[in-house]
Amino acid sequence: MSRAGVTSGHALSTFPCYRILPTAYLSLKLSACRAWQGLNRHRRKFVPPVFRAALVQPVPRELMLRLRFALPLGTRQQFSGKDLAMPTDTLIHGDCLRVLPELAAGSVDFILTDPPYLVRYRPRDGRGVAGDDNAAWLKPAFAQMYRVLQADGFCFSFYGWPHADRFMEAFRSAGFRPVGHFSFPKRYTSSVGHVRCQHECAYLLAKGNPNKPRNPLGDVIEWSENTGNKLHPTQKPVSVLLPLIETYSSVGGRVLDPFAGSGSSLLAAKTLGRGWLGIEIDQHYHAVASRRLANEGVGP
Ligand SMILES: C[S@@+](CC[C@H](N)C(=O)[O-])C[C@H]1O[C@@H](n2cnc3c(N)ncnc32)[C@H](O)[C@@H]1O
Repeated sequence: MSRAGVTSGHALSTFPCYRILPTAYLSLKLSACRAWQGLNRHRRKFVPPVFRAALVQPVPRELMLRLRFALPLGTRQQFSGKDLAMPTDTLIHGDCLRVLPELAAGSVDFILTDPPYLVRYRPRDGRGVAGDDNAAWLKPAFAQMYRVLQADGFCFSFYGWPHADRFMEAFRSAGFRPVGHFSFPKRYTSSVGHVRCQHECAYLLAKGNPNKPRNPLGDVIEWSENTGNKLHPTQKPVSVLLPLIETYSSVGGRVLDPFAGSGSSLLAAKTLGRGWLGIEIDQHYHAVASRRLANEGVGP
């Protein structure tokens, strides 16, 4: 993890020893705590008092998360005062189907995501995209995104038009209501088949009844920049993501991208003073995004 956040005088600072103790000890401690929690009152009586204090003392929630997702212990994170299950300014290396269920319900303000398009995309350089060859993740991921989003909030999701029906089914079965559809015309052709592909598309989805933004965006946004996909085979330009975050989230709010890739959406969120939380399954892209987020520059 490369992002140096600010520890908010919360649980971590109360337990400074946990930062320096070896992971093996903490894992042992975690197992011991779990074992203690699994004992009924009768069996707990047989645990010698000398061990009890150590067993009963709970392992802080954020530490459990960090151990489970194998995040380096040196990473400093910021936690909101009310909710330890919601790390901020963090990029987690893991499968969002495993990570999202660990996050607290209603704890992110806006979701901006660019999931795999289900098109088995393989550019000439051979770089693939994890999850692009099957839709097993689609419904469970959107169900979890719905759960972790605030009660009245927006989710903005790019999608692959050849599977518009499957994406829409996943959005609706999660509980989302489409409230806008966006086209991003490009100045270049990204691939040629029956047509020359020159645009991207995305849905703006609502959970509940979010307030209408003061300055709603037009639903055609020019894709004026070509990233050249230098960092990721489907890299989105930060410049097209900035107005989305500016319009559909508020300063200080928390933006989630569970399919972070090279971290473009998180970088846009960081640039605009939002908290950010990303999940990326591919170790290489997780490292690329971490490096990118650690540098202050916006990049392509
Ligand atoms: C379309 S790309 C996102 C590209 C990103 N918008 C960018 O600008 O770099 C989708 C990303 O989701 C990741 N991914 C696929 N399945 C995932 C999962 N189950 N959990 C977390 N990340 C996943 C892929 O490795 C890929 O990097």
